[in-house]
Amino acid sequence: MDYDIKDLSLADRGLLRIEWAEGAMPVLSIIRKRFAKGRPLKAVRVAACLHVTSETANLVRTLKAGGAEVSLCASNPLSTQDDVAASLVKHYEVPVFAIKGEDKETYYRHIHSVLESKPHITMDDGADLIQVLHSERTDLLSGVIAGTEETTTGVIRLKSMEREGVLRYPIIAVNDAATKHFFDNRYGTGQSTIDGILRATNFLLAGKRFVVAGYGWCGRGIAMRARGMGANVIVVETDPLRALEAIMDGYTVMPMAEAAAAGEVFVTATGNIRIIRKEHFKAMRDGAVVANAGHFNVEIDIPALESLSRSKRPLRDFMEEYTLKDGKRIYLLAEGRLVNLVAAEGHPAAVMDMSFSNQALSVEYAVRHRDKLERRVYQVPEEIDRSIARLKLQSMGVRVDELTKEQKEYLASWEAGT
Ligand code: ADE
Repeated sequence: MDYDIKDLSLADRGLLRIEWAEGAMPVLSIIRKRFAKGRPLKAVRVAACLHVTSETANLVRTLKAGGAEVSLCASNPLSTQDDVAASLVKHYEVPVFAIKGEDKETYYRHIHSVLESKPHITMDDGADLIQVLHSERTDLLSGVIAGTEETTTGVIRLKSMEREGVLRYPIIAVNDAATKHFFDNRYGTGQSTIDGILRATNFLLAGKRFVVAGYGWCGRGIAMRARGMGANVIVVETDPLRALEAIMDGYTVMPMAEAAAAGEVFVTATGNIRIIRKEHFKAMRDGAVVANAGHFNVEIDIPALESLSRSKRPLRDFMEEYTLKDGKRIYLLAEGRLVNLVAAEGHPAAVMDMSFSNQALSVEYAVRHRDKLERRVYQVPEEIDRSIARLKLQSMGVRVDELTKEQKEYLASWEAGT
């Protein structure tokens, strides 16, 4: 079996971490048991480009239990957990191509390596695999049944491919499922981003002026958790509805030009480019910390920071100190890549349980409905989404009421008024 990982001797440690994550992923475990019995993915080749974490390992185990042949590469050069990658190779016989800290060339070589498996299904987090398939490996497109996409940024890219008429196979937008983005993007990103910043800086958040750029589901989560630790949160947002929401959620809202001078910690979560630019670095105070929680490392203009600086040095793990020409210091975390996955461990397993249950059930759905699906971006079917919510509640021991017959009829009627 071909693979490319950092060190196979890390495997036993990785195995324990996979086991620990499994304990917090009860819904995925239920699906895995059903898959093992019915083998709905028998002989289906899956190429996955995901963050290589202990949670992803449990998704891969689930797909394999269903009969799939899975190969895996990283969806970010810095997010790989090398011990987990080693365990997947050694204990689960999964061809993994991922090394934490790989350069851009290796990153793309690894994408090409998983494509060598000639996949029927692609599984993406950010759409890089699909992008390479549609540009450099078009010879493989006819063999692909469908793909899934995990994240907001990837779904935006794929919808633009659909609009331009270049999308060559159906996609299921896992990100858009309610049991994915309401929880993973909000509570997952919220907690893991704070975790990454704290591990990298060991800051006291209480009393810090904490700037969050972007008030989508991720930004909302980050702002909420930062406030929970006592930070004074400032939100920067271009969308008037979201800005209004942030105000009424109790945050201070202002443009980045003003926030730059006020803030002590900055986090971008917009999915857009150059949110923090030269003029903002110039306005920042000495000691400002800058991090990104968006999918790509384009939100902080690092070349601009470099151009303003006279020197830089690594100061702590995942922290670079830049000294500007006027002597001011700015601290960049995780090279401007996803701080939650680079400096911490990504979202906790309990929330990835729902995201990856959506992935597993979407793959099963795509295989089962392969003849009906068109070259479009599809939503996760509502019955899948709701079944995951139900199973998650059950696993938490939470029972809920059901609508009575009378209540159902009332909701369906239009005659009853005051
Ligand atoms: N994305 C965010 N957190 C993650 C995790 N723990 N595993 C895989 N992908 C993730």
